[in-house]
Amino acid sequence: MLRNSKSGYGLIAILFHWSMALLMFGVFGLGLYMHELPQFEERTFALYQLHKSFGFTVLALVVLRLMWRLANPAPRLPGAMPMWEKAAAHGAHLALYVLMFAIPLSGWLMVSASPWGIPTVLFDAIPVPHLPVPGLLGTKEAAEGLMKNVHALLAWGMIILAAFHAAAAIKHHLIARDDTLRRMISPRPSRA
Ligand code: HEM
Repeated sequence: MLRNSKSGYGLIAILFHWSMALLMFGVFGLGLYMHELPQFEERTFALYQLHKSFGFTVLALVVLRLMWRLANPAPRLPGAMPMWEKAAAHGAHLALYVLMFAIPLSGWLMVSASPWGIPTVLFDAIPVPHLPVPGLLGTKEAAEGLMKNVHALLAWGMIILAAFHAAAAIKHHLIARDDTLRRMISPRPSRA
C-alpha cells in the first residue's frame, strides 16, 4: 500500500484507526450476543437494527478512511524490519481494509436476501434499500444461508487478523522498542 517518508501518522488517521477498531469490536460483540437471543422479540429486533446501524457506520467510515489514506500515504515501516515482516504487515493492512468493506456488505446482502424482507432503518431514522441479490446464489433461503456463513466467517477472520496485528504492534513496542505503536497513538507535530 501507498507509503511516504513522513515519520508519523496525522490526527485524522489516528482517529479513524481507533474509532473504527472500537466500533468493529462493538458490532462484532453485538452480533454474537443478538444471535443467541430468542427471535421474534421486540428487544432482539431493536438490537438487530442497532447492529445494522453501526455496521453501516463502519461502511461509511471506511469509504472516508480509504479516501483519506489514498490522499495521505502512511509513513514508512521501520527500516530495520526484515522484508518478510514488511510484506506480512502490508498484506495484513490490505486484508483489514478488504474486511472492513466485505463484512458490512455481506451483512447487507444477507438481509437483502432474507425471505422475511425485514426493512433496515438506521438509528430509527434512515431507511436503507435492499440490494439486488445475484441469481447465481440460488433461492432466497439459500442465498441468505450462504451470506450468513460468509458474514460470520469474515467477522471471525477480522478478529483473528486484528489479534495478530495488535500482537505485532505490541512486539514492536516491547521487544524491538521502535515507534510503530507510539506513532499510532500520538500524532506527528504540525500537519494532520
Ligand atoms: C463491522 C461490521 C459488522 C461486523 C463486525 C458484524 C459482525 C457480526 C457477527 C460476529 C455476527 C454473528 C454471527 C454468528 O454468530 O453467526 C453477525 C450477525 C449478523 N449481522 Fe453483522 N456485522 C457487521 C455488519 C452488519 C451489517 C451492515 C448488517 C446488515 C445490514 C449485518 C447484519 C447481520 C445480521 C442480520 C446478523 C444475524 C445473522 C443470524 O441471525 O444468524 N451485519 N454480524
